[in-house]
Amino acid sequence: MYINCLLLFGLFRFTITNLTSAPADQDRLTKSEQDWRSWAIGRLWEERAKFGHTPLIKYPVKGLPFLRLYIKNETATPTRSLKHRFAWALAMWSVVDGLVTQDSKTYESSSGNTAASEAYMYSAIGVPFYAVVSHDLEQAKIDNIQGNHGQIIKTDNSLRGQLAKETAANTSGFYVNQHGNAEKAEEFTESGDYKYESGNVFHEALAQLRDDSSVTKKDVDYFVHGAGTGGTITSVGRYIDRYNLPTKVVMADTEFSVYYDYVLNNSFKNESGMKLWKEPGVPGVGYGFEVEPVIFGDTTSLVASIIDEVVKLPDIATAAGFREFNSRGLHGGPSSALNMLGALKIALKNKNSPKPISIVTLLNDPADFYLNNYFNDTWIEEMFKDRGGMKALNCWRWEIASTLDRGTDFLANGMQNCKPN
Ligand SMILES: Cc1ncc(COP(=O)(O)O)c(C=O)c1O
Ligand SMILES: *[C@@H]1O[C@H](CO)[C@@H](O)[C@H](O)[C@H]1NC(C)=O
Ligand SMILES: *[C@@H]1O[C@H](CO)[C@@H](O)[C@H](O)[C@H]1NC(C)=O
Ligand SMILES: *[C@@H]1O[C@H](CO)[C@@H](O)[C@H](O)[C@H]1NC(C)=O
Ligand SMILES: *[C@@H]1O[C@H](CO)[C@@H](O)[C@H](O)[C@H]1NC(C)=O
Ligand SMILES: *[C@@H]1O[C@H](CO)[C@@H](O)[C@H](O)[C@H]1NC(C)=O
Ligand SMILES: *[C@@H]1O[C@H](CO)[C@@H](O)[C@H](O)[C@H]1NC(C)=O
Repeated sequence: MYINCLLLFGLFRFTITNLTSAPADQDRLTKSEQDWRSWAIGRLWEERAKFGHTPLIKYPVKGLPFLRLYIKNETATPTRSLKHRFAWALAMWSVVDGLVTQDSKTYESSSGNTAASEAYMYSAIGVPFYAVVSHDLEQAKIDNIQGNHGQIIKTDNSLRGQLAKETAANTSGFYVNQHGNAEKAEEFTESGDYKYESGNVFHEALAQLRDDSSVTKKDVDYFVHGAGTGGTITSVGRYIDRYNLPTKVVMADTEFSVYYDYVLNNSFKNESGMKLWKEPGVPGVGYGFEVEPVIFGDTTSLVASIIDEVVKLPDIATAAGFREFNSRGLHGGPSSALNMLGALKIALKNKNSPKPISIVTLLNDPADFYLNNYFNDTWIEEMFKDRGGMKALNCWRWEIASTLDRGTDFLANGMQNCKPN
């Protein structure tokens, strides 16, 4: 019986492999290609070990004593943003799937952070990396890309994706495409304490809460985060749903982004949001500034089904939050402020809860990337002129401080009190 099966298998193989044209046992990859691939994969696992578990900050809020707010400090990675683990996943995926080999050149369209992290990961495995970025990208982010051995190609913010794709095609390079491929690359499975640990940020947060004896409430009520590619929130939402965890996933959206309607109303799924977009948005998050339409797996990695709630916040409130949280020692960029405001809004909604409410969010990137714009009053005056400039920003800042200190509702009050005049 066993012999018969083998024979049958042999016959079957013969019909699908043309033995007259190629020897049956030919290796698909040469020895040196195989060696490089396993070396690169091993090298990336060393990088996974290097970023370990980013710190979980406990952030008490005086005005909301029932709130247990935990913030994963993603700025404590070698390339200083949430994109470090994200680029790790993309690099690993591209090598495992044979899309990147030792002879590849890689390209990406980025608002800066992904490019710096990809430059780091691809240079770790000796692969050249080119970042296609906006003409007005912050100098600190350019330095971070170049400091990690990436090269810069500049274009209009709205044309980044197109140019990266075209340049890659013209040079036989690989367009990494964080926007479309994050959902293919980012992990959402458990790994226990296995040494090859999942890079999923929520897996890490849960392990940290579990291991912290001062934390009595181990489950998480909400995960709050913005969406740029949507890769991070999707990887967390898939993880939460896959394991039936009691955590609700809340997306914080920027003012002129189409993601809110994409999730809540199934709309804008083949449209660019450009007509609705207004500068400066919030760096790294929201969808709308690119000419390319929103298409899942191509220009976005946002899976609507894993999101339970969406909070939309005014961009000037986010800019104000950036200043206020920084003055209170939370040194994150504008998208981290959006996360914080989203978390505060959700906490306010649960103000009458008899039980503590636990929320996990992320400190996405560091404040010092934004010294020339979000910390610059002249720039704020210019960019937010139609929204009341510095006067409105300071008004929002006061309302946010009041939420932190006294538990008032910054969003309701700010909408009413901080209008441009
Ligand atoms: C500062 C910052 N915050 C948030 C994000 C959004 O993360 P994701 O692309 O995973 O949705 C990005 C992405 O570029 C970013 O650079
Ligand atoms: C097998 O290869 C030979 C030689 O290259 C070719 O003539 C023949 O058509 C091939 N047969 C099939 C089924 O592909
Ligand atoms: C986050 O990590 C960075 C880098 O290690 C550190 O400088 C910063 O103080 C941390 N932020 C907070 C709020 O703990
Ligand atoms: C790519 O090649 C095509 C055809 O040669 C050319 O028209 C186009 O301008 C090139 N684009 C880039 C970005 O190099
Ligand atoms: C959803 O789309 C429909 C049809 O375009 C529109 O009437 C409705 O107002 C939208 N709802 C929201 C919440 O945007
Ligand atoms: C998306 O929009 C473009 C241009 O409007 C259109 O040509 C294309 O058929 C649309 N694709 C889908 C899947 O609806
Ligand atoms: C502040 O912003 C203004 C207006 O954009 C700009 O001209 C100036 O150079 C900026 N200052 C700094 C220190 O970046």
